[in-house]
Amino acid sequence: MKYAIIIGSHRKGSQSTKVGKYIANELRKLKETVTIIDLANNPLPLWGDASIKKKWAPYKRKLQQADALVVISPEWGGMVPSGLKNLFLLCGHELAHKPALIVTVSASRGGAYPVAELRMSSYKNNYLCYIPEHIIVRDVNDMLNDTKLDETNKADFYLKKRLSHALGVLQEYAKAFVRIRKSKKTDMKDYNFGM
Ligand SMILES: Cc1cc2nc3c(=O)[nH]c(=O)nc-3n(C[C@H](O)[C@H](O)[C@H](O)COP(=O)(O)O)c2cc1C
Repeated sequence: MKYAIIIGSHRKGSQSTKVGKYIANELRKLKETVTIIDLANNPLPLWGDASIKKKWAPYKRKLQQADALVVISPEWGGMVPSGLKNLFLLCGHELAHKPALIVTVSASRGGAYPVAELRMSSYKNNYLCYIPEHIIVRDVNDMLNDTKLDETNKADFYLKKRLSHALGVLQEYAKAFVRIRKSKKTDMKDYNFGM
């Protein structure tokens, strides 16, 4: 199946990009096809900009092709970065009725706020479906720096195992949601926007 990983940090060389690459590698080990959408350097103009149609087209294509998504967001000022919220605003129905795993990133003990924010606001009109499992990468500078499973490095070991579990859950949702989309019950012709 096809997975799109959206990396929500605007920073070049961000820790979120490191986490995204780790997850891409894990999904590829599971024989999945992965495309990465990295918002480093904030490549998308704000909604309403005249140049948006042309710039959005390659993103739209990648998102349309995906069966499932991983949405990675750092915690910035207790929030989701604005470029990531802008991406959700630019979406039509590319993400509709597709399962997504939330992964949040903090250099310290944060990471809960962006989970709550994404679950509350980011999916209404694009109909993205967040699965109940999510991952919070705390102390990110010390985490996921290699692919070794070292039991003596307790926090990193736990996180790698938990992430592996979450990706397994996402895989099952990805398979099941194909049937849901095929049912045509999810046709959004009459209800373009969520309530
Ligand atoms: C503008 C800005 C605001 C931040 N605010 C928070 C915060 O509220 N909580 C937190 O845990 N970390 C915060 N951080 C630190 C991030 O956790 C840290 O940069 C981490 O590496 C994830 O961001 P990155 O993916 O951009 O590297 C902030 C970083 C930036 C650049």
